[in-house]
Amino acid sequence: MKRGEIIENITVEKLVFWGKGFTRLEDGKVAFITGWAIPGSRVNIKINKKRKDFYEAQITEVLERSPIETGTHDLFPGAPWMNIEYSEQLKIKQNQIEESLFHVRKHQEEINFLDIIPAPEQFGYRNKIEFSFGKYISHKEEVFQDFNVGFHKRGEFSKVEDYDECLLIDEEQNRIYRKVKDFAKKSGLPVHDQKMWTGFWRHFMMRKMWFSSEILIVLSIFPDYFKSDENTNFEEEKVLADIKNFFKELSEEEQNIKSVYISHNSNKADTLIGDMELIYGNEVISEQLLGLSFDIWPKSFFQTNSRGAEILYSLVKDFAKKDVLENWTVLDLYGWTGTIGMIFADISRDVVSVELNEEASSNGAKNAQKNSITNVEFVNAKVEDFLGDYLEKWMKADLLIIDPPRAWMHPSALPNILKFWTDQIIYVSCNPATLARDLWYILENSEYKIEKIQAVDMFPHTHHIETVVSLTKKEA
Ligand SMILES: C[S@@+](CC[C@H](N)C(=O)[O-])C[C@H]1O[C@@H](n2cnc3c(N)ncnc32)[C@H](O)[C@@H]1O
Repeated sequence: MKRGEIIENITVEKLVFWGKGFTRLEDGKVAFITGWAIPGSRVNIKINKKRKDFYEAQITEVLERSPIETGTHDLFPGAPWMNIEYSEQLKIKQNQIEESLFHVRKHQEEINFLDIIPAPEQFGYRNKIEFSFGKYISHKEEVFQDFNVGFHKRGEFSKVEDYDECLLIDEEQNRIYRKVKDFAKKSGLPVHDQKMWTGFWRHFMMRKMWFSSEILIVLSIFPDYFKSDENTNFEEEKVLADIKNFFKELSEEEQNIKSVYISHNSNKADTLIGDMELIYGNEVISEQLLGLSFDIWPKSFFQTNSRGAEILYSLVKDFAKKDVLENWTVLDLYGWTGTIGMIFADISRDVVSVELNEEASSNGAKNAQKNSITNVEFVNAKVEDFLGDYLEKWMKADLLIIDPPRAWMHPSALPNILKFWTDQIIYVSCNPATLARDLWYILENSEYKIEKIQAVDMFPHTHHIETVVSLTKKEA
């Protein structure tokens, strides 16, 4: 089979990592399929890349939808599984985890897989959403929409699709989204064009915290528009005054809005954050998680599903051997804002939370202070550098919690992790493939065994899975 070849009438057998479809082709090799693959659907695919043992392919046409698809919802890029029954989504995720650890069974035949914990909410669960302003111009499809506010079309960055509602946020957030869109559209100002470096409206971000209901908004605009030849009608001062006025009135109608920023954004990259100007309300909003209170700034790092995060963190806490914890030092590796560390603060002697991103560490330290937590130290460092230094100086840790980034954990981190020989390691993973590789390494190079594994579904209608693994010493 050649690159560019179209293979017809293929059945997507199952989904594997990153939500890719899997099928075996006539030559015996497997193909990993992108483009909203649903198990059981019959499709035509195009071979994009030929690798030694497999192909990378893309769906070009769906011939027959899968029996597990309901066809009830409009699909959008953030929720490609919206039309798969939720119980089927859970089965797919559970299988994915179990299958990805197939090789690990060479080291440990019996693995205690507990059932995946379903999300408490299937819809409206996101506490943060980011819409882009943009166009959808396609001569081929005969579509000429020059003012859309929504999400980039999957795989086509130049096109933004418009929506009336997004089912991953709640009705209040959707209402605000429609009102902002309506206001921006009526302004007569054009949407920003990232490539041409023209237009005014860029992004619209909204956070609504699940437990506090507080809403924070960031509207990102392109200030250079006013200096460009393109602008013949608008005065910067008047436009900004109108925006401020609109949000003031909106906040009176929608009383959960507590904070509104304009981001004056001349960044070349398609990011939301530029020079921030607070135009309404407070600098921060707050959220509660497991009895702790968190301040959230526009740029804050915070789990995007508050209730899901509570379930994940509670599971990590549940897996920990609590009877001895009060005398233990816990290392929270890849700690981000140190939330896991803070959750362990009241049941362990002390916690060291290690994170590369300086802002995340500093957010964490501020929130620890807000909660009067004094036994969590925030270390801003690379885990791989920190571990060596820490081992040399202290050598003392009793529980390691590892929650590495999706891509990978630096290869030098794992050997050092094993040197601690702690009674327990809790590994939190958002990538079954790297989890499988790391567990293989741990079992191959140490006397740890997998005590139990449980996945948590924090993001229904997407392929994302969080998995928590407890590793204990074999002789224990
Ligand atoms: C999956 S997130 C951790 C989430 C966090 N434990 C929580 O519960 O919210 C992974 C984190 O690792 C950080 N990171 C990436 N590479 C790192 C490295 N080499 N050393 C330390 N932290 C790193 C990222 O900035 C990110 O915050």
